[in-house]
Amino acid sequence: MIDLHCHLLPAIDDGPADLGGALTLAQAQVDAGIRTVAVTPHVSPAVPTDAAVIERGVEELRVALRAAAIPLEITTGAEIDVRSAAEMDDDGLLRLALGGGPWLLLEAPLTPGLLLEPILSTLLVRGHSVLLAHPERSPVLQRDPTAVRRLVAQGVLMQLTTGGLGGQFGRDVQRFAEQLVDDGLVHNVASDAHNTHRRPPGLREPLERAGLGEHVAAWCQDAPAALLAGELPPAIPPARRRRSDRRGLRSLLGR
Ligand SMILES: [Fe+2]
Repeated sequence: MIDLHCHLLPAIDDGPADLGGALTLAQAQVDAGIRTVAVTPHVSPAVPTDAAVIERGVEELRVALRAAAIPLEITTGAEIDVRSAAEMDDDGLLRLALGGGPWLLLEAPLTPGLLLEPILSTLLVRGHSVLLAHPERSPVLQRDPTAVRRLVAQGVLMQLTTGGLGGQFGRDVQRFAEQLVDDGLVHNVASDAHNTHRRPPGLREPLERAGLGEHVAAWCQDAPAALLAGELPPAIPPARRRRSDRRGLRSLLGR
């Protein structure tokens, strides 16, 4: 499997504090069945990470992974704040794209009030390819769920996070994530892992818990492989959570 959203580089954002923490997280990714990770440190007004720092960090972490015999491939990327993206020139944005291809991972804003759609539309007009991280957690989209459909119609792809689907960010976020799944508006699922305890890695296991195990290959292998290759993901059939799993999950949770 391929994880296109992971704060794996050490001492750069709110991911691992040091190399030891990064190697522990990398080993946990391997243990969860992940073969390739795009490292996606924050690039935002608060954490204005430079592309050169990310490129150097990936090279150094590759050496450390080899030395520690951890069989994880890593590639460059970033989780770009939409305000930062709007201010960057095209070359600067492309240096932050996933795997050196055209796809930009943009962070769906976690605060209300931002004019998300005009900013993304402008980036699309400029010729960029946009994968939007955790739309389920964004108040902007929660208040206007039809915006997700409009963005997808324009070519924006949606990346859910396993934590959102699993209820880590509350029932409202979980319900919105399930709605996006049921509406066929999910193109990729990623971990957004920051560490091994509070924001851990894992794709197959949390998707199976959510009754979505049959979509692991499409969301976590085929789609991310295509995006890293600079292509569109293969058409993904509308996902349906299995009724028995939904009932089972709800009864487990006492709902
Ligand atoms: Fe993230």
